[in-house]
Amino acid sequence: MKLWQKSLVAVALSAAALAQAAEVNVYSGRQEELIKPMLDKFSKETGIKVNLITGKPDELISRMQSEGRNSPADVLISTDVGRLYRAETQGLFQAVDSKLLTDAIPASLRHPQQQWFGLTMRARPVMYVPGKVKPEQLSTVEDLADPKWKGKICIRSSDNIYNQSMVAALIAQLGEEKTQAWANGFVKNFAQPPKGGDRDQIKAAAAGVCDIAIANTYYLGGMFDDANDKAAAEAVKVFWPNQQDRGAHINISGAGVAKYAPNKTEAVKLLEYMVKPEAQSWYAEVNHEYPVVQGVKWSQRLESFGQFKADQLQLSTLGELNAKAIQVMDKAGWK
Ligand SMILES: [Fe+2]
Repeated sequence: MKLWQKSLVAVALSAAALAQAAEVNVYSGRQEELIKPMLDKFSKETGIKVNLITGKPDELISRMQSEGRNSPADVLISTDVGRLYRAETQGLFQAVDSKLLTDAIPASLRHPQQQWFGLTMRARPVMYVPGKVKPEQLSTVEDLADPKWKGKICIRSSDNIYNQSMVAALIAQLGEEKTQAWANGFVKNFAQPPKGGDRDQIKAAAAGVCDIAIANTYYLGGMFDDANDKAAAEAVKVFWPNQQDRGAHINISGAGVAKYAPNKTEAVKLLEYMVKPEAQSWYAEVNHEYPVVQGVKWSQRLESFGQFKADQLQLSTLGELNAKAIQVMDKAGWK
């Protein structure tokens, strides 16, 4: 073989090796069973191998930070915009220019400069015990600070990011001073010192500890599927607050492409895959969350919680106001 022939063969071989090696490394803050079937399908359809590492979102963020430029991560998937914001401000993401993503995902559910994208939406409404509370008595989150609810509310602790994001949203909407006054009153209405997770608040309401629980909808959805928790889930009803004004507080799970992604093209392809209607429908349903893409059908369970108007606040604001939210909660004595 002549030299030029040899080099042609070499080029062809390395191209083949590259084609075979198409892969994407995913750091996922979601449990394997809540994401892997979709990643497997992505691999089958695109030939791109997915290497999945799962862990707690905050630990994955720290890991990416300590790995720095050498991080193999291409995509970070995380729940709660507060965490995506944290990853973004630590410089762990890069902007992604994808018309497909910006067309599919409403602007309030993605970073203004496309550093991260919401892939599912979750809501944190009011859950009440019928018989103890009439829906007509409920209106806004602000109203839950009224003394008439004294000793009637269950909610988890202030170190939880869902509550921090909820309070951050209030600061964005009402200002810090009004939110502080709200928090001071709201904490006085707690039925017990905050303990446990969201499911525990719903269980406490079902057990008669409180009349109202604040929890993310997917916990309630998951409880219906769990023989041990089904009765507690059936004991509460969802009330959508602030429907006459800004809409109910929502959050997202989402993802961003890592700043030093070794496989950026594949990473973007994966995100684009996740907003396809079929993927949206599966991913939202298995997590008991809402699709972010308009027109994708909700699961029956979510339909049963009712339609609602969602707050259109740009969600990156929740990250920006996180520190202030923690201060407000501390001052109010929210444990
Ligand atoms: Fe959660």
